[in-house]
Amino acid sequence: MLKKFKTKKGKDVSIRYLCKDDTKDLLELYNSLVDEKSYTVATKKFNLNQEKIFVESSLNKIIKAEAIFLVAEYNNKALGITSIVKEQSPIIEHRGNFGIILSKDIRGEGVGEELMRCIIKEAQRFLKIKLITLNVFEENIAAINLYKKMNFIQAGKIEKGLKHFGRYKNEIIMVKYI
Ligand SMILES: CC(C)(COP(=O)(O)OP(=O)(O)OC[C@H]1O[C@@H](n2cnc3c(N)ncnc32)[C@H](O)[C@@H]1OP(=O)(O)O)[C@@H](O)C(=O)NCCC(=O)NCCS
Repeated sequence: MLKKFKTKKGKDVSIRYLCKDDTKDLLELYNSLVDEKSYTVATKKFNLNQEKIFVESSLNKIIKAEAIFLVAEYNNKALGITSIVKEQSPIIEHRGNFGIILSKDIRGEGVGEELMRCIIKEAQRFLKIKLITLNVFEENIAAINLYKKMNFIQAGKIEKGLKHFGRYKNEIIMVKYI
């Protein structure tokens, strides 16, 4: 376990590396974001087999130091996941791409911030990257505020660069040098 803390509402949350046993919880989490029509990559529901493949491939990337995947656990359940995946092409292998999703049940309590602090530290230790990039829907104000708080800066904007359930939306690209 990397960290244990109390959220702003007093929940005991721990942050640790992803493991195989998280598969069902993460499937539930991912599919809940599809239902919510959240501003994330979650647009189509996964089945258990697809989630198993995702978790196995993520674990392989951790072993090969190609990525970090951390989960936030509350009441023995994985309610959040964050990742930094190192780029593979030689010209961008000094970059890692960041992502994060939390269950609605534990948002706004400081968990996103704690997860980000932990994963950036782990990436600095194990991934040999110099910068972290991320892509976010312009409408995702909560996420953009969190990233600004973590000292990410806007590196660009692609008008209508992302699709959200059939509608084109602006994409904000942010970066943090580590
Ligand atoms: C975006 C997300 C990861 C933020 O995590 P969180 O745990 O809710 O955020 P925290 O409680 O740690 O808040 C940290 C900062 O983020 C910003 N923030 C969080 N929720 C916010 C909201 N509803 N409105 C505006 N800003 C918000 C604030 O700057 C906050 O700092 P403050 O508490 O000092 O005001 C979380 O809301 C989430 O998973 N959302 C759905 C999935 C998603 O959009 N993922 C990102 C895809 S790019």
